[in-house]
Amino acid sequence: MRCASLLMTVLLALPLSAQAQFARLNDAVKYRQAGFHVLSTHVQRAGAMAKGEVAFDRAAAEANAVLIELLSRQLAGAFPPGSDMAPSKAKPEVWQDAAQFKTHSDQWQGTAAKLSGAARSGDANAFKTAFNALAQTCKACHDGYRNR
Ligand code: HEC
Repeated sequence: MRCASLLMTVLLALPLSAQAQFARLNDAVKYRQAGFHVLSTHVQRAGAMAKGEVAFDRAAAEANAVLIELLSRQLAGAFPPGSDMAPSKAKPEVWQDAAQFKTHSDQWQGTAAKLSGAARSGDANAFKTAFNALAQTCKACHDGYRNR
């Protein structure tokens, strides 16, 4: 019992270790490309609401935002060193400027968390503001760390 709870404490305290999470490095590439694809589907749905193309609906906004928040967290941990092989479009700077890349990741996760907070509040204007802040973080990171 004691051992089990100690183990839980250790597991919860550990940052998500990308190396340990993928059996092979190219699994990380597949995971993040698929994950980013799903993420962007939900970002587009949230964006349609933020832009007023679709009427704001609290439940739908929240469903999209929660997934965006969860995926952002998982994807930030899907860049183990050495996983720059084809067909990855990640630039070498992801690993060379790891500290700066982490700053982008942290900002992204912060804005994703605010988006789900705004969705839960049911305030369409707050949702729009939070969405624009999130979209900025996608672009800022892609400009420096993703090949076209
Ligand atoms: C911290 C940096 C970073 C942030 C923030 C970020 N991305 Fe990316 N994104 C990348 C990198 C690097 C790749 C290339 C991954 C690869 O091919 O290995 C990528 C790839 C993608 C892809 C292409 C996936 C494919 O099919 O190959 C899409 C779509 C995408 N991102 C959408 C988004 C959206 C939407 C957001 C914001 C909600 C976002 N990204 C935020 C770094 C980031």
